[in-house]
Amino acid sequence: METQSITIRRPDDWHLHLRDGEMLKAVAPYTARQFARAIVMPNLTPPVTTVEAAAAYRDRIVAAAGPGFTPLMTCYLTDDASPDELERGHAEGVWVAAKLYPAHATTNSAAGVTDVRNIAAALERMQRIGMPLLIHGEVTDHEAVFIERILQHLVRDFPTLKIVFEHITTRDAAQFVADAPGTVAATITPQHLIINRNAIFAGGIRPHAYCLPVAKREQHRLAVRRAAVSGSPKFFLGTDSAPHLREAKESSCGCAGIFNAPYALESYATVFDEEGALDRLEAFASENGARFYGLPLNEGRVTLERADVLVPENVPAAGSSLVPFHAG
Ligand code: NCD
Ligand code: ZN
Repeated sequence: METQSITIRRPDDWHLHLRDGEMLKAVAPYTARQFARAIVMPNLTPPVTTVEAAAAYRDRIVAAAGPGFTPLMTCYLTDDASPDELERGHAEGVWVAAKLYPAHATTNSAAGVTDVRNIAAALERMQRIGMPLLIHGEVTDHEAVFIERILQHLVRDFPTLKIVFEHITTRDAAQFVADAPGTVAATITPQHLIINRNAIFAGGIRPHAYCLPVAKREQHRLAVRRAAVSGSPKFFLGTDSAPHLREAKESSCGCAGIFNAPYALESYATVFDEEGALDRLEAFASENGARFYGLPLNEGRVTLERADVLVPENVPAAGSSLVPFHAG
């Protein structure tokens, strides 16, 4: 018999873009409705590189999200990231992790790291203080190339550094993480479980299916799905919800990012249901990430009920609108 309702520990989102200003006010409540905590990406303009900027941003998020939601802040690593600043932010409880964007890999990443050798001292310090490194693991190359050129070396050179390979999209990445030591984990988005690259070209160019890393071929989607439902504690929920206003997406140079926050948990639950793995949803959504970060599990519970839902064509934001994942 079909499961009609499930109750799980309140989940967390281990990879989220909330933006700032009016956009932040529009999108934060969607995440706070479902998740107790979220790892907030620092790719604002300018990027969040100082403890003060991160603390002030955290206050704005708390105000926008309302009570019951805890933003977990990250430091945007640049070539001249200071080990002392990282340690201070971590010790003061502002920064939970630091984010490595290879320069020019994605939205607002021009200030990213040009060569990981430039941040060796920062990584050394993070390893020592137990501060996780979050990696956007794709440049202009495929994930497989990034693994060979960069990740394998990092894992070898910093054997006790916690590393999160973010938003994995390929069989290669899923396999690498599964085979890696316990210090390595990965987040998985709803879109990479649900769409393959054909969705971007279905009957015409589909800007709302375009995100980075871009969705790959079907065999990769299936491998990422198997990893998510495998029960391995190395894989956990990270939506990568990345809102851009409709006109910025529907453009001759459309922004990368899928706004999946409104129905994020429902998206994942649908996948786990289809895979006959609803009993593993709770670990993926609510336990594995917190354990990897060494944070307490949430106390609250959420209940999901099986029902048809019509996802709106768009939702208002900042004087314009956002088109959510599954719109219509
Ligand atoms: C993100 C954004 O818009 O900030 N876009 C995306 O497609 N995921 C950046 C990122 O995480 O790569
Ligand atoms: Zn992201």
